[in-house]
Amino acid sequence: MTTPFTHDSGYRHIEVHPLSGAIGAEIHGVDIANGLSTAVFEEVQRAFSDFAVIFFRDQDLTPEQHIDFAQCWGKINVNRFFKPVPSYPLIAEVRKEPEQTSNIGRLWHTDHSYDQIPATGSILYAREIPDSGGDTVFASMYAAYDSLSEGLKQMLSSLRAIHSSRDVFGPQAYQDWRDKSDIGDRLGNAAAASQDANHPVVIRHPLSGRPALYVNPQFTLRFDGWTKEESRPLLDYLYLHGSRPEFTCRFRWRQNSIAMWDNRATWHHALNDYHGERRLMHRITLEGVALEDT
Ligand code: SIN
Repeated sequence: MTTPFTHDSGYRHIEVHPLSGAIGAEIHGVDIANGLSTAVFEEVQRAFSDFAVIFFRDQDLTPEQHIDFAQCWGKINVNRFFKPVPSYPLIAEVRKEPEQTSNIGRLWHTDHSYDQIPATGSILYAREIPDSGGDTVFASMYAAYDSLSEGLKQMLSSLRAIHSSRDVFGPQAYQDWRDKSDIGDRLGNAAAASQDANHPVVIRHPLSGRPALYVNPQFTLRFDGWTKEESRPLLDYLYLHGSRPEFTCRFRWRQNSIAMWDNRATWHHALNDYHGERRLMHRITLEGVALEDT
């Protein structure tokens, strides 16, 4: 059974509409372009902690306002592989052109788990979206962890895992992309994908204090001290388990929508079902903290 949210629903300054039983809420009554009062911002922070991903609609933002909002949360982390938005090095472009077949973020993943100090999360803003398709699905790693057996929880709590950007962003990357030229100018700087990170498999979330499963299909290579072959069956089990529909919510984008997710408690997956149309998102990522075990 999925563990329901453990949140206090007493929001007084914003409206919070949960998207599913496990993760995600749309926030209404907030005008980001005009700046948030302390009282509103504190409730938005609480919703972020309660729901792990929060969504806003109809936010008409300049890149400067997007940056200002991000800086209310902390320091911006500049992704070393994504092409920046022209003239805005703090904003990464997540783009797919009509003639391109592959999209960015097309597998379940947790951004930046390949960093020893992984990013807190990202604030993704929709500038151009296809007429239909291009939704993003999020999965709760709290719910995934909570619903494991006590035996498996105990075993996982003693493990650490190795994460890497090499297979996804390094010189040997994109092997599973249908056509390397399809990537175009969207990703680069492959030489920077050289280091691995080592994290607990079950983390104590830095904001909520709750345990969360912290491995993901795109960046986790193996358990620390295990070979890749030994790790594969258990990782595959966890990946199947973590993507169970009842742990997820699905966000249908509209132009000027925002999704802000917590990397430490979620996976996400950008659906690639809008061929022939353009999708352009601006992403700002926030610096995080080193992760601790439970
Ligand atoms: C990402 O994985 O950061 C992009 C998600 C999306 O484009 O929906």
